Amino acid sequence: MKVYAVVLAAGKGTRMKSDLPKVVHEVLYKPMINHVVDELKALGVDETIVIVGHAAEKVEAIVDDVTFVYQKEQLGTGHAVLQAKEVLADKDGVTLVLCGDAPLIRKETLKEFIDYHQSHHNQATIMSADCDTSTHYGRIIKENGQVVGIEEYKDLKVEHQDITEMNTGEYCFDNKALFNALSKVSNNNAQNEYYLTDVIGIMNDEKLKVDAYKIDDFDEVGGINDRVALAEATIILRDRINREHLLNGVNIIDPSNTYIARDVKIGPDTTIEPGCIIKGKTEIGSHCHIGPYCEFTNMIIKDNVEIKFSVLSDSIIENGVDIGPYSRLRTNCHIHENAHMGNFVEMKKADFGKGSKASHLTYVGDAIVGENVNFGCGTITSNYDGKNKSLTKIEDNVFIGCNTNLVAPVTVRKNAYIAAGSTITKEVDEDALAIARSRQQNKQGYSKKLKEIREKEFERRNKEKNKENS
Ligand code: UD1
Ligand code: CA
Repeated sequence: MKVYAVVLAAGKGTRMKSDLPKVVHEVLYKPMINHVVDELKALGVDETIVIVGHAAEKVEAIVDDVTFVYQKEQLGTGHAVLQAKEVLADKDGVTLVLCGDAPLIRKETLKEFIDYHQSHHNQATIMSADCDTSTHYGRIIKENGQVVGIEEYKDLKVEHQDITEMNTGEYCFDNKALFNALSKVSNNNAQNEYYLTDVIGIMNDEKLKVDAYKIDDFDEVGGINDRVALAEATIILRDRINREHLLNGVNIIDPSNTYIARDVKIGPDTTIEPGCIIKGKTEIGSHCHIGPYCEFTNMIIKDNVEIKFSVLSDSIIENGVDIGPYSRLRTNCHIHENAHMGNFVEMKKADFGKGSKASHLTYVGDAIVGENVNFGCGTITSNYDGKNKSLTKIEDNVFIGCNTNLVAPVTVRKNAYIAAGSTITKEVDEDALAIARSRQQNKQGYSKKLKEIREKEFERRNKEKNKENS
């Protein structure tokens, strides 16, 4: 049985008061639409169609591996799904219809939903939940316990006003039956829109089997219409994710102060201290100690790694590395086993060898560094001449004295020693000592002389000032 999905994402989301279309807004560092599409991918649906309209290019730019269908004018949810007619209408299978503004749906729930739809031989199944009578959702209308239709809040008949079973806006349909019913939907209602919800009544009139699948967790299906709901969704998702990690053996000291995005993986016995934001496709191994106060984006971190107060992205860190406080990794760094990066150290495109150390105030950019290299405090790779980026190569066991400039392109061979304060502009040979600074001169007695000159000058100025004031 083929499974298709249609995700509605053409609306503007006026109440967000934003230049961005609603579904591009992020919940826990991931756009709403990607939450929905990624769950569908994980579920393994055969094809996902995303209906775009308002600022379509902004949605298309961030979503991969789906078919986009353009809805020129937003004439309602029914009209939106109907735009997929050319792609879908003649296919056999079931079609999930999901809202792009309901990002907290889980693949497990969708799987149970499809299973329910199929095992009950339904032509349409509405995902429903209980709500307050005051909320503005569509209501499930039943006769003798059987679903007969959905009424939108604005069209709700007086006798239906105390119904609390609401339409979550997520459905499972027999695909052909859906498009057949959609062609019969009109816009004769309070909002002059083509309501998708009307297909339920139409299918019921045609004696097709329509049904509701009620879920307990309302948080999973709440639609986001404004920034209050957006902020609430972030907290709901944060708590859900942190709980899963805790149950998997991750030690999160303060879950209400730890933000771990949905695609992050963390191994057991790793501790996460407060104030950490971990996002993108980050993977952290086990027995690590992370934080306090770190921000990671797309990091691969192996086991037994310790990192505090640092901002790291798009890099790989091997076992036993120790980083921070106040370190920064930008793109494409590879920090090998047991290396150390300390206070105020920044690296970019650096391959930093096993056991090497940059403990203080160092910049390593566009560099290949061997094993057991020691960077003295204040060492800098001068990788940029204002136009070109150049490579610095440092071989194993090199010792770099404090405040060294390595002007790239440059190579320092094995076991070399660079004297503190050097500016290295040409290759340093294996086992050599490089000194590239001016020689020290001591001028005997000159310090004392200087002091006397300064004191005389001070007295002269004081006298002048007194004269002016008298
Ligand atoms: C819809 C349902 C309502 C349900 C609620 C759940 C209808 C008529 N009503 O109402 O029963 O309780 O969802 O959240 O379906 N969209 C388009 N094109 C359009 C119109 C909407 O793509 O022409 C998209 C929107 O961008 C949004 C989704 O469809 O992602 C839902 O539309 P929205 O206007 O928010 O529907 P609701 O009024 O919330
Ligand atoms: Ca909505």
